[in-house]
Amino acid sequence: MEKYIVKGGTPLVGEVSIGGAKNAALAIIAAAIMADEPVKIENIPDIKDINVLIDTIAEIGAKVDRIDRHTVRINGGTIKTVVVNNESIKKIRASYYLVGALLGKFSKAQVVLPGGCNIGSRPIDQHLKGFRALGAEVKIEHGMISAMSNGERLIGTNVYFDVNSVGATINVMLAAVTAEGNTVIENAAKEPHVVDVANMLNSMGANIKGAGTDVIRIKGVKKLHGSEYAVVQDQIEAGTFMVAAAVTRGNILVKNVIPKHLEAITAKLLEIGCKIEEYDDSIRVIGAKEFNTTHIKTLPYPGFPTDMQPQMSVALALANGTSTVTESIFENRFKYVDELTRMGADIKVEGNTAIIRGVARYTGAQVNALDLRAGAALVLAGLAADGVTIVEDIVYIQRGYEKFEEKLRNLGATIEIVETDREIKKFKLKVS
Ligand code: EPZ
Repeated sequence: MEKYIVKGGTPLVGEVSIGGAKNAALAIIAAAIMADEPVKIENIPDIKDINVLIDTIAEIGAKVDRIDRHTVRINGGTIKTVVVNNESIKKIRASYYLVGALLGKFSKAQVVLPGGCNIGSRPIDQHLKGFRALGAEVKIEHGMISAMSNGERLIGTNVYFDVNSVGATINVMLAAVTAEGNTVIENAAKEPHVVDVANMLNSMGANIKGAGTDVIRIKGVKKLHGSEYAVVQDQIEAGTFMVAAAVTRGNILVKNVIPKHLEAITAKLLEIGCKIEEYDDSIRVIGAKEFNTTHIKTLPYPGFPTDMQPQMSVALALANGTSTVTESIFENRFKYVDELTRMGADIKVEGNTAIIRGVARYTGAQVNALDLRAGAALVLAGLAADGVTIVEDIVYIQRGYEKFEEKLRNLGATIEIVETDREIKKFKLKVS
């Protein structure tokens, strides 16, 4: 299995350009099948989860042209089945967007239950609640979500979400845009990628208002048409490189970002002592020699994003004193703490709060990437550590970060992908 091998201690300096948002692109690719005309999507990240979803859409009959690594044209007019089930798609979380998209297009869908990072139970009850409210009969049987409405179209309605859910908000939006009549979604998620999906659907002729607020109003339309759309920049990839500048005491200009989407991350990096320079579409982070402590609680947008929690904990574990991080979105998102402890961190997890007592430094060790963001966080710790760190199971990281090691190398990092002991020995000789 491929691993990252990292020699720490070098401040990362230079510029990095951020790609399209994974969590917007996945939903936008699903939405594209809803028209019977070509939809061209630009700025998609070239990562495994995206490629699995695109392959699956082709498998059910859509016409798919991968124009280049970051651009795809999809025409859903030739889809021949609403049954979605294959070994790869069951491993990703975003497969569930095909339920909303197929329901919105054909008023029926049969999609294998979603997989995704093991950071908690990750139920989909709110998705199903929304589909049922729109008039679909929904069953979970044989590991599949089967949804079907008796009528030609779903029926617009009011949906109140019991929890703030990005996935459920997007999924119900997908199903409701072609429903008969109006739909109001209350307690909607407000993440930038929810807004991006709404903007893209509106570019296809949908009528969605209020995305980015707690209440989204949708006027159902009969059909959607073709469109061209560019995916919003990835706020979590951007945040990951911002923290890389902090923990290596480096100086990185993170380009191709929307600073407003990064406000919670910027605020916390300022609190621990980093310098930040904000420009129109880029942000510079200058790491501090010493970090102050702070307290973080992950919250739905615009609060501190749960997908940046592991990365920020890596910085706090080097602060002067004790910080706390409370994970309020997922119930099992501290699995990386044991791995970080192997590198010298002093963190105690009590319930959904990590008590982080700062240490002087990390020391390189062999660690495991247990999920996407945990894996990225361990690479950041390796970049800051004395000595060599090996991060195993990097397939998780490659699901969410395009050319992660290449972008880090361009900033001065000593990081390679290795597989064999011989390659590890060669790397260690080279850096010793
Ligand atoms: C999306 O997951 C992202 N994944 C996650 O990013 C991200 O952490 C999460 O949103 C929150 O921002 C994709 O977009 C593919 P939720 P999702 O529904 O939609 C509970 C990453 O690292 N809930 O907002 O699954 C749920 O258990 C990944 O890129 C229900 O109870 O997240 C959780 O506690 C990790 N019932 C909370 O809501 C439901 O029906 C938020 O989940 C749905 C969710």
